[in-house]
Amino acid sequence: MIKFTLNGRTVETDAPATARLLDLLRDDFKLIGTKEGCGEGECGACSVFMNNLLQNSCLIPIGSIAGADIQTIEGIIETEQFKILDESYSIAGGVQCGYCIPGMIMASTALLSKNPHPSEAEIREGISGNLCRCTGYNMIVEAINLAAKKGDGLW
Ligand code: FES
Ligand code: FES
Repeated sequence: MIKFTLNGRTVETDAPATARLLDLLRDDFKLIGTKEGCGEGECGACSVFMNNLLQNSCLIPIGSIAGADIQTIEGIIETEQFKILDESYSIAGGVQCGYCIPGMIMASTALLSKNPHPSEAEIREGISGNLCRCTGYNMIVEAINLAAKKGDGLW
């Protein structure tokens, strides 16, 4: 049995140690905000925080999460930072099909938490692990820029 913290609650699982965290989140805990894109660590759709670091959950075996603090998009949805990002993505038109957006929001949060006043180049670097097939990225970059300004002092 593996015990860990998931969105602030202590939980446990008897899933095999080699199972993927992505599947555990979606199938067992029904946290379907975390998406599967490539399944190979290339697209960022499955982004979560593990011990406050942005990680691709498709690459994390359950065996490595004992005692870890895992946060999914559902775990940050009530925060002021999330509300600012949500508004900013909406104003900037950063959401089209939406599939990449949970991962983008996790990456945006990670970036702004480390660097509250990023340059455009730093924003592009911050989301470089997250693929979007729809927007061409410019509107997402604009959304993050807007969120940095709207959330000044909060990040
Ligand atoms: S599904 Fe994990 S990085 Fe693409
Ligand atoms: S909005 Fe469709 S993949 Fe990004």
